[in-house]
Amino acid sequence: SVDVLQNGNATSVVRRKLTGFVGFSNLPIQWHRKSIKKGFNFNVMVVGESGLGKSTLVSTLFNMPLYPPRSEKRPSAEVPKTVAIQSISADLEEGGVKLRLTVVDTPGFGDFVNNDDAWRPIVENIEQRFDAFLEAENKVNRANIVDNRIHAIIYFIAPTGHSLKPLDIEVMKKLHNKANLIPVIAKSDILTDEEIVAFKARIRADLDYHKISLFETPRYEVDSDETMEEKASIISKIPFAIVGATSEVTTPDGRVVRGRKYPWGVVEVDNDGHCDFLKLRAMLVKNYMEELKEYTNEFLYENYRSAKLTAMGVSQDQSVFKEINPAAKQEEERAIHQAKLLKMEAEMRMVFQQKVAEKEQRLKQSEDELFARHREMKESLDKQRRELEAKKAQIESGKAYLSTEEKSRKKGFSLRS
Ligand code: GTP
Repeated sequence: SVDVLQNGNATSVVRRKLTGFVGFSNLPIQWHRKSIKKGFNFNVMVVGESGLGKSTLVSTLFNMPLYPPRSEKRPSAEVPKTVAIQSISADLEEGGVKLRLTVVDTPGFGDFVNNDDAWRPIVENIEQRFDAFLEAENKVNRANIVDNRIHAIIYFIAPTGHSLKPLDIEVMKKLHNKANLIPVIAKSDILTDEEIVAFKARIRADLDYHKISLFETPRYEVDSDETMEEKASIISKIPFAIVGATSEVTTPDGRVVRGRKYPWGVVEVDNDGHCDFLKLRAMLVKNYMEELKEYTNEFLYENYRSAKLTAMGVSQDQSVFKEINPAAKQEEERAIHQAKLLKMEAEMRMVFQQKVAEKEQRLKQSEDELFARHREMKESLDKQRRELEAKKAQIESGKAYLSTEEKSRKKGFSLRS
């Protein structure tokens, strides 16, 4: 059994050995079954001057002719004026595992007198693919999003034996933050072993100097010593010295191999002693295809996405961070609660002020009414007072008349007597 103890905010997990079968040991099998059913997809871009053997290498890597024969490939009338972007997809199957491979070619790259903007259509294409993915992610129905993002770029370096050309440096600088960059020395069979060693050293120095980062190591898992060793041996060969060949030839000792036959002997493709093809295949297909996809999704795309959303003024989505950080989640909940309280308080204050204003209005109204009634009463009292005074004056004058009459009557009486 497994006991989970709550200790304040921290959750401590006690490790116990299971005493009976539970079933989750089947998870890798479940995952395997699901993946087999769903199939995989992988999108690789090839960048390099024409004639460096890009099509040949892709066909060699996946062991099938992906491109139409060279004569049908590009009729001379259709020579592009700028770098074009062409994509070819193929459904491959090996041991019951399905893979949809998409190869994005960049014909015309480096072919012009002025190659200043050669990187632009390539970067635009990569960004368009990121944008399409971002749009699909933001839709209500996010199930079955097709991942058309570029998972790796094989950058072909011409086998000059000198150093990188300014165009190589400029383009790789523009690309290394957008896709996993894997540089290869094309047609390395034309260089001697010593030339290759020196050329590789100069290329690596140039890449370091210009801070161009390459896809080198899987960054998450803690590997066994064996895997670490294999990884180190792959990385030590970058940039891979490549030989491509789709046809089989017979070696002087009678073996049938994929390779290129020269009057002095055979250069074998699948031979670590002759070139780095197997190392490239290990990195791209056999060992690290999933890593390339994971790194594209979690770092390259994520950087692009957050930069784009920030530029659009959308605050960054911290949900992934919050999921793994309970303190951040708690802080966010507290902030939401606080905001709710403030909103309620503001609403209550508003209602209170409204009620007070209504009461004041009513009081003012009744005050006005009282004043009006008071004025009315005063006026009617004044009127009554005036009438009474008039009556009083009338009575007074009547009284005066009567007393004069009385007096004269009394006077007449005394005279008569
Ligand atoms: P574009 O489609 O024009 O861009 O050419 P690409 O880069 O796809 O080259 P492609 O694969 O068509 O090869 C051009 C020529 O180079 C062909 O004749 C190939 O046989 C030859 N080639 C391809 N790979 C190698 C190699 O590793 N070594 C040598 N010596 N020749 C090669």
